[in-house]
Amino acid sequence: MTRQFGLIGYPLGHSFSKGFFTAKFEAEGVDARYDNFPLEHISDFPALLAAHPQLEGINVTIPHKEKVTSYLHHVSPVVAAIGACNCIRIQNKQLTGYNTDVVGFEKSLRKKLGHHHNAALVLGTGGASKAVQYVLQQLQIPFTVISRKADPEKGIREYGALKKEDLQYATLWINTTPLGMAPNTESMPPLDYGQVSERHYLYDLVYNPAETKFLSAGKSKGAVIENGHDMLIIQAEESWAIWNA
Ligand SMILES: NC(=O)c1ccc[n+]([C@@H]2O[C@H](COP(=O)([O-])OP(=O)(O)OC[C@H]3O[C@@H](n4cnc5c(N)ncnc54)[C@H](OP(=O)(O)O)[C@@H]3O)[C@@H](O)[C@H]2O)c1
Repeated sequence: MTRQFGLIGYPLGHSFSKGFFTAKFEAEGVDARYDNFPLEHISDFPALLAAHPQLEGINVTIPHKEKVTSYLHHVSPVVAAIGACNCIRIQNKQLTGYNTDVVGFEKSLRKKLGHHHNAALVLGTGGASKAVQYVLQQLQIPFTVISRKADPEKGIREYGALKKEDLQYATLWINTTPLGMAPNTESMPPLDYGQVSERHYLYDLVYNPAETKFLSAGKSKGAVIENGHDMLIIQAEESWAIWNA
């Protein structure tokens, strides 16, 4: 029987996963299909599962990575730690949640990480930000989270509050916001890019376009740059491994 997998999120127009898995199944001769399930309200998730009882695995994207956790029967230690899930395995109607963004980001980040990239700014506070923060903790790289709204109790600062010294000291800047993502390619996180140097590493989780304005600004200053494409491939392959474990 054809195995069934899919993606929930809203909207899903930009989704990479369906194309990736469809091509993978064809190339590897796997009898499986991968469908997009646009789901505006997560409260409709149980009805979706009931309508598709053959589903073995589901990826989860914006805006449901956090709220979907309340529908899971079991969670991996990473999901328990960060409260965000992007991969679900379904066995005997039991849902187990995983977070493959964590391993995807870690493996991708490390490829260009130098010893001098030893303090970070994490831009944004959503699900992807939580995965990034978890990895930085594992790598023992101290970081400050930047948001549109400061939260002093949690140590979260606003973009406008960053001083030149802060921007020079933190040599690793990670964009976990959708700023710069197509079709809004002219937008970028509001930082003073004049403080970027060759010692900086700018990592953008956005992968479309391949070079966002955030990355272009870093590149023009000689910084190391990387986009989210590698991370995307790694997290997708990791999902496949989980569904077949
Ligand atoms: N490459 C990959 O494999 C991969 C994996 C996961 C995610 N991503 C990408 O990462 C991005 C974020 O994903 P997510 O799931 O974390 O999304 P999300 O939950 O919607 O969070 C994004 C965060 O960005 C900030 N933000 C949103 N709109 C903004 C705006 N107009 N200006 C400034 N900040 C804004 C918000 O933080 P504040 O409210 O605190 O400002 C928000 O919490 C997306 O572009 C997604 O495609 C890539």
